[in-house]
Amino acid sequence: MTRQARRITIAARRFLGGAALLGAGAVAASVLVSSRSVAEDTPPKALTFANAAGVLRTLYTRDGFDRDNPFFQELGSNGRTCATCHRPAQAWTITPAEVQNRFERTGGRDPIFRTNDGSNCAAADISTMQKRREAFSLLLARGLIRIALDVPAGADFEVAGVDDPYRCGGSLTTASLYRRPLPTTNLTFLSAVMWDGRATVAGRGIQEDLVAQTLDAAVRHAGATVPRESELREIVAFERGLVTAQVLDRAAGSLIGAGARGGPSALAMQPFCIGVNDPIGMLPSTPGSCAAPATGLDPAVFTLFGGWATDWSAERQAIARGEIIFNTRRFVIDNVPGLNGGPQDPLSGPISSGTCTVCHNTPNAGNHSVSMPLNIGIAAAARRTPDLPLYTLRNTITGELLQMTDPGRAMVTGRWSDIGKFKGPVLRALAARAPYFHDGSARSLADVIEFYDTRFHVGLTGREKADLLAFLQAL
Ligand code: HEC
Ligand code: HEC
Repeated sequence: MTRQARRITIAARRFLGGAALLGAGAVAASVLVSSRSVAEDTPPKALTFANAAGVLRTLYTRDGFDRDNPFFQELGSNGRTCATCHRPAQAWTITPAEVQNRFERTGGRDPIFRTNDGSNCAAADISTMQKRREAFSLLLARGLIRIALDVPAGADFEVAGVDDPYRCGGSLTTASLYRRPLPTTNLTFLSAVMWDGRATVAGRGIQEDLVAQTLDAAVRHAGATVPRESELREIVAFERGLVTAQVLDRAAGSLIGAGARGGPSALAMQPFCIGVNDPIGMLPSTPGSCAAPATGLDPAVFTLFGGWATDWSAERQAIARGEIIFNTRRFVIDNVPGLNGGPQDPLSGPISSGTCTVCHNTPNAGNHSVSMPLNIGIAAAARRTPDLPLYTLRNTITGELLQMTDPGRAMVTGRWSDIGKFKGPVLRALAARAPYFHDGSARSLADVIEFYDTRFHVGLTGREKADLLAFLQAL
């Protein structure tokens, strides 16, 4: 076999490894191949995969998928690549089903099953298959990776105790946080990098944040010694060239054309600058931010499916209604630290006519268009399930106690007021990558909708929930 042919075969195996599982789903297996055959020498411009809701496509906006990109290469000593945890078929993250499949196929020896951050505890016993099943239970059940972070020096809080179901032991100055890998696609819309924004440095710009993040990922996840700067930049250029969205919905058919603007091609044309739809005039001066401040929030964030409002298809109408609900359905947003939940917050008092788009405000992408870490209560003690640790945090100034499954941004800034804050991720390609929220606590998009309906007393009717679900699945 020529080097080129071997390279492509290996790459095809890597990509199709994720898709093979999905072939068991309801969508015909024929959609599993990329838009050009992987056997051809020209690198493909798009990768297409089936999922439970329909079909997902990633467009590569640069010169074609270069499978020699270091993103797909082992960077360190533990056999891992970036694609170990960022898989094209799962919208460039991982899902429990695919991870379980890898476990069964490899007897729990695939490189994702490493104790540096794949297992519940660092010192896990992985000597037998049964032990491995236990050691990697959070990864298998929820697709969670362990992130160990130290309480920052000078923090105004300390970890007073932890109720740890795995009894990992270790010092209370370090916390093990179990988080979902964020997708490494649609990155041109980011206003902060990582769930807690820890790779984002004020004034540096997202491009350089991503270079720093790549170095950290290579060292922490893949056990690399310091990779070459040129490799880091190649990885970032690759990631920033990826655009991913659903292209076909099982109920409504093609999401492109006939009045709709779904799919990655339209998304690739979507302009963005940081602060483009900034609800509270926070415009930061950082590379990549808009030249002029936005003039208040435009709540019509998603403008993809308006043309289907009067379509002959009931399924298409449902998606169109769901988009309107996301943009305009009013509810009260109150007590959200980072927005209006504390004395330092930009707003005092409730937002009486809030919408999903107050927070999910980047046009047609749905993340925060300006960095805005928020505590919507995902890590609150009340939502804790027995498989997650519960940390007791003590304010060293006031003595106040707070229990959380993950202190969130506070582990970056050391500030009590940042406890439980996370960023709102890009809301595209959702259907391919359940479960949701930083801790994978929402098993489905229906669970996400239930969370919001309860948390913000939205009062959605059964039909509104169904419409919103149809819309979110079509993104
Ligand atoms: C062991 C699994 C694993 C591997 C391997 C891995 N990542 Fe990640 N990645 C994660 C997790 C988990 C997060 C979220 C962590 C957090 O926010 O605290 C993440 C987050 C990211 C993000 C942030 C995206 C955003 O929206 O903020 C980028 C970019 C990223 N990874 C790129 C990479 C690159 C590049 C590599 C290879 C050098 C890599 N990752 C290897 C698990 C992994
Ligand atoms: C007050 C701000 C706010 C409002 C209002 C809001 N969200 Fe969110 N959303 C967030 C934040 C912050 C996260 C990430 C939370 C976490 O994981 O800890 C999030 C996460 C999500 C996710 C999961 C994304 C992923 O990749 O895991 C979905 C889906 C979502 N929101 C949909 C909605 C819908 C639908 C509405 C309206 C009913 C809504 N949101 C209203 C702030 C908000």
